[in-house]
Amino acid sequence: MDLHGEYLIIGSGIAALRAAASLDGAGDVLILTKGGAREGNTGYAQGGIAAAVGPDDSPARHLADTLAAGDGLCDERAVAVLVDEGPRYVRELMAWGAAFDRAPDGSPALAIEGAHSVRRVLHARDATGREIGRVLWERVSPMPNVRIVDHARAVALIVEDGRCAGVRFLQDGAGMAVARARCTLLATGGAGQVYSDTTNPHVATGDGVAIAYRAGAAVADLEFVQFHPTALKRHGQPRFLLSEALRGEGARLVNADGEPFMLRYDPAGDLAPRDRVSRGIAREEQRTGQPVYLTLAHLDPAYVHQRFPEISAACRGAGLDLAVDRIPVGPAAHYAMGGVVTDLDGRTTIPGLLSAGEVACTGVHGANRLASNSLLEGLVFGARAGNAMRASRDRSIDPDTVRALQPSGSTASDRMGTAGSDSGRQRFDGASVRELMWRHVGLFRDGDGLRTALAALDRAWDALGATVDDPDAMATVTAEQWQAASLVTVGRLIARAAWRREESRGGHFRLDFPERDDRHWRRRVMEIR
Ligand code: FAD
Ligand code: SIN
Repeated sequence: MDLHGEYLIIGSGIAALRAAASLDGAGDVLILTKGGAREGNTGYAQGGIAAAVGPDDSPARHLADTLAAGDGLCDERAVAVLVDEGPRYVRELMAWGAAFDRAPDGSPALAIEGAHSVRRVLHARDATGREIGRVLWERVSPMPNVRIVDHARAVALIVEDGRCAGVRFLQDGAGMAVARARCTLLATGGAGQVYSDTTNPHVATGDGVAIAYRAGAAVADLEFVQFHPTALKRHGQPRFLLSEALRGEGARLVNADGEPFMLRYDPAGDLAPRDRVSRGIAREEQRTGQPVYLTLAHLDPAYVHQRFPEISAACRGAGLDLAVDRIPVGPAAHYAMGGVVTDLDGRTTIPGLLSAGEVACTGVHGANRLASNSLLEGLVFGARAGNAMRASRDRSIDPDTVRALQPSGSTASDRMGTAGSDSGRQRFDGASVRELMWRHVGLFRDGDGLRTALAALDRAWDALGATVDDPDAMATVTAEQWQAASLVTVGRLIARAAWRREESRGGHFRLDFPERDDRHWRRRVMEIR
């Protein structure tokens, strides 16, 4: 089954759906999405969406907090767009029916999370993403020019005469097919599943970065992975997120003796930026040899259960009472700051290909994303990408945007693998990549670990060989193998960037280079195949 549309959107999260909403009344829009139509990171978002709508807030203040969290690497122009346009798009969501929690005077109730200087996080209890997804879905799915095909996994871009002409995709039970369009938007979300411990759902395997990179698009900032400090830690269980909003409402991190410990590691304590809290937790676990907990036992139990119903239910499912028990927590891979390089309208380095949301790298997050800025990014830059598609400006990214990144392409010395050896042809499964990444390219990194990871990932990359690039050979590749191909491609890009960046900054921490080094590294690492 080959499909055609004027506009092709890959994914169905906040970025994809807000882009589609911009195409209301335009030409045919085809949306392909890998799982069920509502499956993706957006539906799991808990804490909320940040926007400067409060009386004591301003875009300038939101900008300052975002730049501080980004640790010297944000693209200030992109951040200015995010914070200036954010309130307008959030109000639009409310006008479309988003039921955010309200203060007694009827204004949006605003929460605070780590590294925000004021309360600015709008939320719908602890299931904000589900509410936003519902509103956008109800807006987009009835549009007469929209067709949605679910369980359709994009696996490769079609690039003809240097332009993106669509994608090849694998539909459950129907084999490989082609979707062609004048303009394609990648909105495939994050890559948390590259790690064994993650808050992300199973669809978040970094496919967008993998297929864009394999087609020749520029990618950047991939060494910056955000590890959320507080995922519910139960042996052998997926890491369920315990929102930072819990700490915003007064929850404390304590060690096994019940002592608050974060001030030992950071003057901002429990609400320091996420990277610092995550490392604080890991260090406290190392220091004490014991688990670390979140406690809300000092708060009003009725309020805790009413404010956090989903998290309460998840804890109950694990045999714990959120308001009473100490909840075992630990860091888990949560968010990819890097991705496919775009300009302010979502254009990538390949004409006809745009990108928005977590898969994109607009530069708004720098080295570390400010809490609750991700939904906002998907909303604002999804809308802008949709507008750019509609305006039919048939251009790729402004070359100045790429030049500003000071590209560092691959060199022979970047290779750690032994191409051509027997081990070079070994197949790599997803679980091995995830374990390898967690162990060597996680919260704490060093040259030896990164070299070990890269040697294995280079071999796995070689084993993928031409199969994933050759349209004829592609037909034989299974869905499981495509998934492993994404994990290998993205894992290797993260590890390469982490190995190159010989300093510590934001989400990237090198034990062998523990200091931030602005003289050499106040620049972004970009890669083009
Ligand atoms: P997604 O919502 O992940 O959507 C991506 C879509 O692409 C999905 O539909 C997926 O199925 C599809 N897809 C993927 N690969 C393919 C493929 N190969 N072919 C076709 N389709 C594909 N951020 C905040 O700002 N505030 C929060 O409170 C918050 N809480 C979070 C809680 C959790 C548990 C998680 C995991 C994330 C949270 N985040 C939060 C981050 C935020 O939810 C995401 O960054 C954001 O929703 C990403 O939106 P997106 O549209 O880019 O991607
Ligand atoms: C959370 O609720 O802690 C997640 C918020 C985010 O990822 O921004």
